[in-house]
Amino acid sequence: MASRHAEKSGKVMTRREVLRRFGAVGLAAPATAALLAACRREEATPTPVAQTAQTPAPVQAENKLEIFSWWTNPGEADGLQALFDLFLQRRPGVEIINATVAGGAGTNAKAVLVTRMQAGNPPDSFQVHAGWELIGTWVVAGKMEPINDLFEQEGWTNVMPKTLLDQISYQGNFYSVPVNIHRSNMLWYNKSVFEKIGVEPPKTLDDFYAVAEKIKASGVTPLSVGGKDKFEVPHLFEDLLLAVFGPEDYAKLFTDPGMWESDPRIDEAIDVLDRFLSYANEDRSALSWADAAQRVLDGTGAMTIMGDWAHGYFINKGAKPGEDYGWAPSPGTDGYFMWLSDSFGLPVGAPHRENAIEWLKVCGSREGQDAFNPKKGSIPARTDPDLSKYDEYLKYSIDRFAKDALAPSVVHGAAANEAYMTEYNNALNVFSASRDKQQLKGMLIDAARELQR
Ligand code: GAL
Repeated sequence: MASRHAEKSGKVMTRREVLRRFGAVGLAAPATAALLAACRREEATPTPVAQTAQTPAPVQAENKLEIFSWWTNPGEADGLQALFDLFLQRRPGVEIINATVAGGAGTNAKAVLVTRMQAGNPPDSFQVHAGWELIGTWVVAGKMEPINDLFEQEGWTNVMPKTLLDQISYQGNFYSVPVNIHRSNMLWYNKSVFEKIGVEPPKTLDDFYAVAEKIKASGVTPLSVGGKDKFEVPHLFEDLLLAVFGPEDYAKLFTDPGMWESDPRIDEAIDVLDRFLSYANEDRSALSWADAAQRVLDGTGAMTIMGDWAHGYFINKGAKPGEDYGWAPSPGTDGYFMWLSDSFGLPVGAPHRENAIEWLKVCGSREGQDAFNPKKGSIPARTDPDLSKYDEYLKYSIDRFAKDALAPSVVHGAAANEAYMTEYNNALNVFSASRDKQQLKGMLIDAARELQR
């Protein structure tokens, strides 16, 4: 996968270019203001971590470390705690401020982060998706320190896949440390419900309809879908787009925006989504992704289509992988891996910068990744894990990541800029309630204007 961030000219983008690419439309007003303010400093070249060590560092008044994320749910919160525990072994006595803002996919957290960054009040480090979310929102605005020397010292370039390194770099500098790789296109199902009804996990879209009909006839909701965090239906749709378009043409949707208007497969994908939702719970706007996953554990919902943080959730709940619940690629996507990666970077002006650098070292270490990922439900960003620490699902996922065709997630920051993602998500959330296909198509075509690069 080629980096989509490498600027052809090698120049920092101008204010107009940033506005065109990262868009005033669709970003919260504070975000726009933050970007514009950053663009005023557009000629400033960020100072590498190594060089800043020679200039007087801001005095680290208190021995603290503030880490900002949206990991509040079972599984993800456990993974975060495992990283904190390791950090404290290295730096006992540091007071960790666990600054979480609840809401899956960071819908709420990202808005709070923009406000803080704009006010010059950054946390010491924050969760950010590799790809456009990191580069488009923060790096081009000059809000992140390059961390090349850390990559060199820690040898990370030798143990992380190039695909991923491309997504965290801009103009030859590295800007964040990936802790994991998640797979978004997964179907999770209740094994005993499936056995009782006598169905197998659906491989194709048609299989899904046949299986869902049988489940529905038994009185169980076939597909458990959330909506409260405003990313769940958009997430489902990106998996269906992957099924309908295949990985190559799916990726083109974000580089050739005209396809949203001209390609008849868009109508097909919308029809598929509408049909999938006809098998889903009506109360989805009141349910988070975790609530929807819980229904699968309870057996009141037979399947859910969600990233593998659902695996972390299930483990936390004491469910046995392969016994209580099973998994399969979401229908129509066998052989494709829709990926995303959580990472942490070093914001300019981090108040406890030295602790933040130590935090990044923990995040990138083998020990850190092997403590975090088995709880989080993700695979390590590093290619040298201690496999004995990973369960059956995660070993399967490590294997699939190496073999499958990769596709970047929109909803989780990898495929497109934040302004586009916001409009795309909005279109899908409106559709979840209205089920108006023409309106959805119109909103998706409008959203595609944000993809101009
Ligand atoms: C994703 C994030 C995952 C998980 C999920 C649910 O965007 O990458 O780590 O937290 O949201 O909140």
